[in-house]
Amino acid sequence: MKRARVLAVAGARPNFMKVAPLLRAMRARPFFETLLVHTGQHYDAAMSEAFFRDLGMPEPDVNLGVGSGSHAAQTAEVLRSIEPVLLDWRPDVVVVVGDVNSTLAATIAAVKLGVPVAHVEAGLRSFDRSMPEEINRLLTDAVSSWLFTSEPAGAANLRREGVDEARIHFVGNVMIDTLLAHVDRARAEAPLDRLGLEANGYALLTLHRPSNVDDPERLQRLFDVLEEVHQRIPVVFPVHPRTRAAIENKMGGRVPKLHLTEPLGYLTFLGLMAYARLVLTDSGGIQEETTALGVPCLTLRENTERPITVEQGTNRLVGRDVSLIRAGVDEILAAERRPPRVPDLWDGRAAERIADVLERELSARAGR
Ligand code: UD1
Repeated sequence: MKRARVLAVAGARPNFMKVAPLLRAMRARPFFETLLVHTGQHYDAAMSEAFFRDLGMPEPDVNLGVGSGSHAAQTAEVLRSIEPVLLDWRPDVVVVVGDVNSTLAATIAAVKLGVPVAHVEAGLRSFDRSMPEEINRLLTDAVSSWLFTSEPAGAANLRREGVDEARIHFVGNVMIDTLLAHVDRARAEAPLDRLGLEANGYALLTLHRPSNVDDPERLQRLFDVLEEVHQRIPVVFPVHPRTRAAIENKMGGRVPKLHLTEPLGYLTFLGLMAYARLVLTDSGGIQEETTALGVPCLTLRENTERPITVEQGTNRLVGRDVSLIRAGVDEILAAERRPPRVPDLWDGRAAERIADVLERELSARAGR
């Protein structure tokens, strides 16, 4: 039997924990042969290597080393440099995850060569086209053959865009596969003592979206209210490279009076999230992770492409509105924590479901 060749693409920090369970599920089946391509969109040890280590992922088979750049330059560099890999290895399917520039670029390169694409985490929409990720999501979904969705809104959005039902597969959330596989170890190894923190006695903050960090006045207003929160409960803030650059270059290096750290590895961050009293974030994935953990989350954005985290989970949108942020923190600090209500199919088996669909459909196509 000729094995089905699956080329998986990872580029940036939020991709690695989504690709890890997919590779594991496929490598366990004789049907698949896999190749892992790292685009190099994220390249700092703390943004990339640390994740491979924590997740027990194999080294990438190919690293394209594209690095940073404008959206056009970064996307173009992935497009240009992945094409020879596709021509050389001739995959039967390219698997892309999430919504980063590497996701879109790998998709375009593949479909132009006639290689079908499977998009994991399809159909999410913020309906905000000023977000680079929204453009990446729309374009990737438009040309992918398999659309694997993580929550019901994904399929609803795709149907509204006229996508054929046969392309849509509700499989659950691969990032939660990884969370469930690692959370016990992450709790056991959480560096609370080292950071001088108590379980349930601190807030955890992440901030890196261009809409929050690129304008120094906006960022300063956010830091002002977050410093207020820090007076009430310590705010631990692992600083993303984009945000660090904004502080250094646009704010005269005035460092916010919060508990700052370098970007953290997967396990450390997960452990800190699991024991946090609350999380403040503008990330997409963290909205889902806090919902799975039952930790209250205030999202510093006006919209979310992950509505189930608000409808069923622990998430609340507060944007950049100072009074909403204050009220959200007040409420969380005053309330008893409710037991988590975990969304449907966020059960640790999403990657297996994806492997099932691909095995069934690829074998039918090729008569394997
Ligand atoms: C990217 C994704 C975003 C995701 C985020 C997670 C896109 C459009 N955006 O944003 O969806 O939430 O990753 O981090 O793909 N830098 C370093 N070292 C690195 C990587 C980046 O110093 O290893 C710095 C560079 O100055 C770079 C800047 O961070 O210019 C931004 O990196 P980039 O990959 O363009 O986007 P992110 O903001 O990380």
